[in-house]
Amino acid sequence: MSNIGSYEERLKNFDWSIAEKELGYEEGDKLNIGWYCSDRICEMGKKDKIALYWEGHSGKERKFTFDEIRIDSNKIGAFLRSLGIKAEDRVCLFMDKIPELYIGFLGVLKIGAIAQPLFSAFGDESLHVRLDNAKTTAILTQRKHVGKVRRLLAKSPYLKHIIIVDHDGKKPLKDREISFDMENYEAPKDFEIHQTTAESPSVLHYTSGTTGQPKGVKHVHYSIISQYLTAKWVLDLQPDDIYWCTADPGWVTGTSYGIIGPWSQGITQCVLDVGFSAENWYKFIEKNQVTVWYSAPTAIRSLMKAGEKVVQKFDLTSLRHLASVGEPLNAEAVVWSEKVYGHPFLDTYWQTETGSMMLTNFPGMKIKPGSMGKPFPGITATVVDTKTFEPITEPSKIGLIAFKPGWPAMMRTYWENEETYKSKFKNGWYLPGDRAYIDQDGYFWFVGRDDDVINTGGHLVSPFEVESALLEHEAVAESAVVSKPDEVNMEVVKAFVTIKPGYEINDMLELKIMNFIRKKLSPLAMPQEIEYVDNLPKTRSGKIMRRLLHAKEWGEEIGDTSTLEDDE
Ligand code: WT7
Repeated sequence: MSNIGSYEERLKNFDWSIAEKELGYEEGDKLNIGWYCSDRICEMGKKDKIALYWEGHSGKERKFTFDEIRIDSNKIGAFLRSLGIKAEDRVCLFMDKIPELYIGFLGVLKIGAIAQPLFSAFGDESLHVRLDNAKTTAILTQRKHVGKVRRLLAKSPYLKHIIIVDHDGKKPLKDREISFDMENYEAPKDFEIHQTTAESPSVLHYTSGTTGQPKGVKHVHYSIISQYLTAKWVLDLQPDDIYWCTADPGWVTGTSYGIIGPWSQGITQCVLDVGFSAENWYKFIEKNQVTVWYSAPTAIRSLMKAGEKVVQKFDLTSLRHLASVGEPLNAEAVVWSEKVYGHPFLDTYWQTETGSMMLTNFPGMKIKPGSMGKPFPGITATVVDTKTFEPITEPSKIGLIAFKPGWPAMMRTYWENEETYKSKFKNGWYLPGDRAYIDQDGYFWFVGRDDDVINTGGHLVSPFEVESALLEHEAVAESAVVSKPDEVNMEVVKAFVTIKPGYEINDMLELKIMNFIRKKLSPLAMPQEIEYVDNLPKTRSGKIMRRLLHAKEWGEEIGDTSTLEDDE
């Protein structure tokens, strides 16, 4: 029997207090995610149960029981406190997927500070704008990434502590740097968890929009209520499961379902900190006997590309339940996974701002391959008209996805950007910025984004950020950035550029431009192609019409360009 049981029954009786009761939480109580994910599990008698199996490069392994993650997160909390870090200070986690990242996340939350996880592959500029926006006090990082932090010190006066978790004592520490060795740090005797409550801020994840800098999505400790229940019902986590979430905690999937969801119910999880290859992944599943696997469409398409033969080299019979998030999951991927693994990947839809799953396919449900499924119980979801923002009642008519605000994990605001936060609500609905339709059976089908944001391999890229980086190069006069189709990543970044007089378009110039923007952008945002043009299409008011370029790349009808010129 699956955890969710009958969806219809759940809908009838649903209340988020179901999760509150299971977690032993009552309104007004103190509430701390760090405590829930470690201390409480130990108190429930699972001290010696494995919380984390970790594997890194060249087969290096580490494992931690729930008691060990409790103690180690206390150590990190105590150490941060000893530096003077207080509740609500922002502490950035800038590490590969090493245990210190997962445990450090809990440690930061335990002292009431705000965890700001950032993807370790970010370059100087991507890191700087996010630290600068949050005025981050401390950063936990590794030797291999500290160079990036050092380069932005002069312009980051607020950043007081650079904590290196793997300092081997060989090279001297520099300005503001300090070493923290989780293994050998003395465990604090009476560590007190900060008395956070439901609405205390917990996590700050950054996400890209169409315009402006990336926005900090502010979450609170109460988010655990939805993360716990969705992980239980949709991922169907059972006490003996070995769970694998392939996402990096630099992104919301890696925290909501790579830390909080599984650990709040005392589930053993495993983490693989090596680059992707079909062999590596299958070997990891076989070795750890993974039962529940949460991944993303780009990875699944890469596995499809690697083919069925390599699947047969491994014993993957431990797998019981597979789910996916981040981008449209094509019907073929659902059908293929059922054929080769014996279980289909079930699609889930949500975003950084929603904090937890919104539209879901879950065990026991009739799966329509290609559909995002149905709203999780407690989520009121519809599609609304693009002009009136009234719900569309006609089946299969396209509109904007809309959610009734009020589920526990919903973001509370964008960091110091209340205005943009407010602009996400229309007519009482929260609009995530995606288009979809609902079929006659109540299934949601993804159509596309409602803005120019590019979703490449599950990562959102702001065309504006890429255009701005290009414009800073001395030879670039104008730029327009759109997506183009790609077999594995679904879409990749393409830039159109006009060059200033006096410059010659050649390979050398292209190399220079690429090297220039590489320093400014995250590797995920790098254009796969630059096309040099004489002019860019513009509206009458002089705005570049990305949509026209986009349509060309995707072989879509451009339609009536006179109306295109007027709008935007
Ligand atoms: C955007 C959110 C939440 C996890 C990672 C992404 C797109 C997400 C699906 C899906 C089609 C999807 C949407 C959404 N997206 N899931 N199942 N089907 N599109 O978080 O970086 O905040 O991106 O990803 O466009 O708005 P994110």
